[in-house]
Amino acid sequence: MIKDQHIPIMTNEILSFIDGKKNLSILDCTFGRGGHSKKFLENGHFVTAIDQDDNSFSIAKKLKEEFRNFVFYKSNFKDLDLLNLGNEKYDFILLDLGFSSDQLDDSKIGLSFKTNSKLNMNYLGGDINAYKIINDYDKEELQRVFYFYGEINQAEKLAKYIVNQRSIKSIDTNFELIKILRDSGVNFRSKKIHFATQAFQALRIESNNELENLETFLNKVHEFLKINAYFAVISFHSLEDRIVKNYLRDNKISKTKNFRNNKDWGFEILTKKPIVASKFEVLENKRSRSAKLRVGKFIN
Ligand SMILES: C[S@@+](CC[C@H](N)C(=O)[O-])C[C@H]1O[C@@H](n2cnc3c(N)ncnc32)[C@H](O)[C@@H]1O
Repeated sequence: MIKDQHIPIMTNEILSFIDGKKNLSILDCTFGRGGHSKKFLENGHFVTAIDQDDNSFSIAKKLKEEFRNFVFYKSNFKDLDLLNLGNEKYDFILLDLGFSSDQLDDSKIGLSFKTNSKLNMNYLGGDINAYKIINDYDKEELQRVFYFYGEINQAEKLAKYIVNQRSIKSIDTNFELIKILRDSGVNFRSKKIHFATQAFQALRIESNNELENLETFLNKVHEFLKINAYFAVISFHSLEDRIVKNYLRDNKISKTKNFRNNKDWGFEILTKKPIVASKFEVLENKRSRSAKLRVGKFIN
């Protein structure tokens, strides 16, 4: 049974950019449970949506029965140029990155450190997963993952400890991994959050190729934006947010319409500082607490 759980984030803030506009064509690249897509459809817009997730596919099928202005593609958003979108360009493109609450609650995916699951963390159905990373990667690769994707200063110490422990017995579950993290003697920076957060983040990013997917997508997205279109990204961790911030900055246009990237297109940055969820939204939906929204207007 599909639960009705995922609450779309910063919906009002997103809609405020297209307030009063009608019949826009919108590309929602992270459909999830369709929270944002549904809002766009209810406002009379045309929505093309993408998600790699099987549940999203089922939800999209239902939404299609309700709204005729809706098309869904089950795909990785990094491949948006392979989707037969034709020469279609959009008035608004949205990325709401990461995983949905449903995926977090799915013990087969095992993203949560509250539930004991088989080590996996792959929510996009790819070949890499946390089990393979933890049990098969060599020490240097493990160190790279923890250092760059978890920003764990003592990544080498952690990698060494894991290699040692797995030589005694394979590390099969989330709880086994958490025990090993605890016993490793590594000083995790996280004071306000669960001490395993950084390590789990690192494994999740590597398992799903999160940063490469985003970078590949960003290299293509300008081809799909109409003049004066909005490009909005919600990210949930600083590594993603930095990539988006740098992308907009590197392709920023100045007031005199000088294109910084030496190309004939660029962005007017509409969010000098990222927009964050209101206190009220954070109270209602804890997950919105770490969300950052950046928006650029496409100029050509
Ligand atoms: C935070 S949820 C989106 C929630 C959605 N905006 C809503 O209101 O229901 C992120 C979604 O993006 C999808 N996703 C993440 N990375 C993806 C990728 N590279 N390609 C396709 N889908 C991706 C996940 O499967 C997940 O369903």
